[in-house]
Amino acid sequence: MSDTAIVGGSWPMSVRSPGKFIVFGEHAVVHGAPELLVAIDLHLQVGVATAPEFQLNREPMARSANPYLARGLERFWPSGAPVAITTSSRIPRAAGLGSSAAFVAALGAAFGSASGGVARDALAQSSFEVERGAQGAGSPGDTSAVVAGGCVALNSPSGTLLWETTVGDARWTVRRVSDPRWVWVVAYSGLPRSTATAVQRVGHRLAEPDGPELLQRFREVATAGIGAWIREERTEVGRLMQENQRLLAEVGVSNPRLEALISAVAPVAEGAKITGAGCGGSIAVLPQPGREAEAVRRLARAGAVALAVRPSTRGVDVVGSG
Ligand code: PMV
Repeated sequence: MSDTAIVGGSWPMSVRSPGKFIVFGEHAVVHGAPELLVAIDLHLQVGVATAPEFQLNREPMARSANPYLARGLERFWPSGAPVAITTSSRIPRAAGLGSSAAFVAALGAAFGSASGGVARDALAQSSFEVERGAQGAGSPGDTSAVVAGGCVALNSPSGTLLWETTVGDARWTVRRVSDPRWVWVVAYSGLPRSTATAVQRVGHRLAEPDGPELLQRFREVATAGIGAWIREERTEVGRLMQENQRLLAEVGVSNPRLEALISAVAPVAEGAKITGAGCGGSIAVLPQPGREAEAVRRLARAGAVALAVRPSTRGVDVVGSG
């Protein structure tokens, strides 16, 4: 597991970050409820080298076109010399699979390493601040998962405490939980969406009179789900994913396309639900044992980009330097 610091290094440097999916608790986590996330073996790689002028993927860098890049450089490289940054990624963008968190954490790891090294709790905090600044809303779930690697639970009493992440008066605990070593399937619907818009929509829904009761149901499902996860009760994890999906539909972030994908895979799945902000993006599927390939085929036939994935034990890290 990546519980060790990012060590010091020099340019040219390559940094690799996993993507992630969410098993339980997206949206409700923004309001303090528990969440369970898994870093996955779909990676984004960032290269950084010295250069006469700032460049991104061999073009002059237009920071204004990418708020994550602009805020990342401002935070991680405030008075830095020009650098050339290159990116390559297998994580679909704006798909709920952690591409923006992976990009921000990779930038933070690269500049942190070039500045002598950075502790993982500090990198998790600064990556969250950059992502939230660029996005205008959200929790530290995605950035925690890609910095820590493996499986992490936010705001849960179970697991081993890694760190706490804060913004203003809000505070989230981040804990390491065990990996039951199941193979998962994620499927991108092809519909990009904005996390900030979806978070706002759910915020409005939870401000209605029955909002507190709804949030309490999210809390109960995620708490029970994390317990079942730790006991490796696969069928129960799948059942609770379905229940979590019903709650996500109730707060308005599902749509007919996502429901069609969930129905297409249902005959071979223990459970399937939106992963991430919803309103498009991706679903995460826990297949019945041995039915992973069939789950991928069913989702591909339904028009999704479907991939079998495994947890990535390694969080963001330098993979080449000097
Ligand atoms: O950006 P996404 O699609 O991975 O969504 C993250 C999950 C939310 O709970 C909707 C937002 C957040 O920052 O926690």
